[in-house]
Amino acid sequence: MWYLTNRNRTTEIFAIPEPAAYYDRPIGLRNPIAFYDGHIPNFSYLKLNREGLGAPAIDAGFEKLFERGIDPESEREAAALGNASWPDRHRIAGYGAAVDAAVLQAFAKADLTDASASPSLDRAEAAYNILEHEEMHHETLLYMMHRMPSDRKRSRGRTGAFVERAPLATGSAAIPAGTATLGARRDAIRFGWDNEFDEHRVEVGAFEIDVNNVTNGEWLAFVHAGGPVPSFWLAREDGFRLVGMFEEMPLPLTWPVYVTQAQASAYAAWRGSRLPTEAEYHRAAFGTPEGTERAHPWGDRAPTSSLGNFDFKRFDPEPVGQYSAGASAFGVYDLVGNGWEWTSTVWAPFDGFSPMVTYPVYSKDFFDGQHYVIKGASPVTSRNLVRRSLRNWFRPEYPYVYATFRTVRS
Ligand code: AVJ
Ligand code: FE
Repeated sequence: MWYLTNRNRTTEIFAIPEPAAYYDRPIGLRNPIAFYDGHIPNFSYLKLNREGLGAPAIDAGFEKLFERGIDPESEREAAALGNASWPDRHRIAGYGAAVDAAVLQAFAKADLTDASASPSLDRAEAAYNILEHEEMHHETLLYMMHRMPSDRKRSRGRTGAFVERAPLATGSAAIPAGTATLGARRDAIRFGWDNEFDEHRVEVGAFEIDVNNVTNGEWLAFVHAGGPVPSFWLAREDGFRLVGMFEEMPLPLTWPVYVTQAQASAYAAWRGSRLPTEAEYHRAAFGTPEGTERAHPWGDRAPTSSLGNFDFKRFDPEPVGQYSAGASAFGVYDLVGNGWEWTSTVWAPFDGFSPMVTYPVYSKDFFDGQHYVIKGASPVTSRNLVRRSLRNWFRPEYPYVYATFRTVRS
């Protein structure tokens, strides 16, 4: 059952830090990890039981405290937004258990699709919202814990096992001019976040795109030419090393480099290229030489582990260009998996956007010209979030997200 699978994964993720690290704040721009232990169940109860089914608060103080995370511009602003003292871990766990019992009861007994009872229940919006919300936070938690020093984490052994491998294809793919369908029809998918609507078509000119993500090895040449050192790298006397989720390793030259949007744009400019727009990403990923469009880069089959590095298969990337079965019709690799893909498109609503009933500020608060669209999936993005219309967004200097890029020319 999806909710329990999510809760179990949350439990596993909270077992990664040493108990003493529960209140650590590995990313100054975010709350401490303890916040998320309360926030995830709180959000589920608030959306499903409270707003959807009209249940009373379990704990009004906790409800407010754990309501929403933060996305400030600076750490100074973050410190001002922060809460001084977070509750005891056992109290947060008790709250989570009470929520779980109530949410499971709702899934078992209530009609979660009765729009006449609450608009939140229309097409089970509240239920899908909380299920996808928890999975998004699995990724948030993992990229936060990535930043914890290894002595704050219990070892997870070989999960980041270091391998190097040459890509199966190199160079770029020519994408002819054509139409990209962005967004989704409201009746075509069982659930989508508000920013995924409405469906519309965009005419895209011809361009060429790298078949692989830019690798650490390629980025190293940029560093030698004066480019910035990625935040996942460590400079050591004998050269650069990569900080993996659980261990440091010699820089894997064939893995994609995780960088910010600003760094990626600088690299592209250095190469006389640029980042793809969101519509160009769609053309390269979902278009075909015949002019049709498909649900995923590999076609219409459901996402599985043979198609790319996503869905928690590993915590770290793999060498680029290995998943031939997951390549797009134009022969472009890893468009879903092995790291999100930065675009040059500013985060903004599609025509027909309306704030969703169950989370009106989910997207809207970030339509400020200060965020950019990322597409695809990282190693720790659930397969449940792999759909063509899913869009994600971050600030251009945000260094924590597992985001890769490739360059285009036209
Ligand atoms: C869509 C991933 C940018 O992590 O800030 C979770 C998801 N929003 N709870 C984020 C989210 C509220 C959001 N991103
Ligand atoms: Fe959240």
